[in-house]
Amino acid sequence: MLIEIAPSILSADFAHLADAANAAISGGATLLHVDVMDGHFVPNITIGPPVVASLRKAVEVPLDCHLMIEDADQYIAAFADAGANWISVHQEACIHLNRTLELIRSHNCRPGVVLNPATPVQTLGEVLDLVDYVLIMSVNPGFGGQKFIPSALEKVRKLTTMRAAKGLNFRIEIDGGIDLETIGGAVKAGVEIFVAGSAVFSHGDPAVNVEELLKAAQDATMVRV
Ligand code: DX5
Ligand code: ZN
Repeated sequence: MLIEIAPSILSADFAHLADAANAAISGGATLLHVDVMDGHFVPNITIGPPVVASLRKAVEVPLDCHLMIEDADQYIAAFADAGANWISVHQEACIHLNRTLELIRSHNCRPGVVLNPATPVQTLGEVLDLVDYVLIMSVNPGFGGQKFIPSALEKVRKLTTMRAAKGLNFRIEIDGGIDLETIGGAVKAGVEIFVAGSAVFSHGDPAVNVEELLKAAQDATMVRV
């Protein structure tokens, strides 16, 4: 199991994005999580392809673009051209989810599917063979700094069972309220990729914060349950 920390730039200072991102990377982050919000699917607006293109020039790690938008099909080419490496879309926002996931792959990006806290994992049964990763939201999307919703872990456990039953090997990512308190439980439930926004960028040194999260996650893999 390859544990990765994906700092969410949503909690960084946008005027100093490259410095913040590179500080997190120097602490061991191997992926950068980019939250794209449209003010329709979620009640907030963030960034689009131009910022992804600038970031692409400033960092070397893959960019994990989490699209919290309606009509994702219309924007996937733009994000891919801007340098997105992983692109995830919400099950709740995509009417033709199969087509959207195929479209992401056709642009040579890794496709991922995301579930809101209220959406059951069973809704993914017919698309799990099309994705490289599943992102389980452990907060309602739209804002950083929210409290972790523990029922997300039961969904992760169910997803690991579905994955084994189908003989698949997509990876499992979690997003929302991940910090030094919550990361260990998520590791034990079967998560490999941890998005962390405020825990990385809202206090202290992002490099040290990533190091500590990585250590807490790796320690949790050692503990027998
Ligand atoms: C929320 C975003 C998250 C957010 C996480 O809609 O998808 O990626 O940045 O922030 P924290 O880690 O502060 O909960
Ligand atoms: Zn996110």
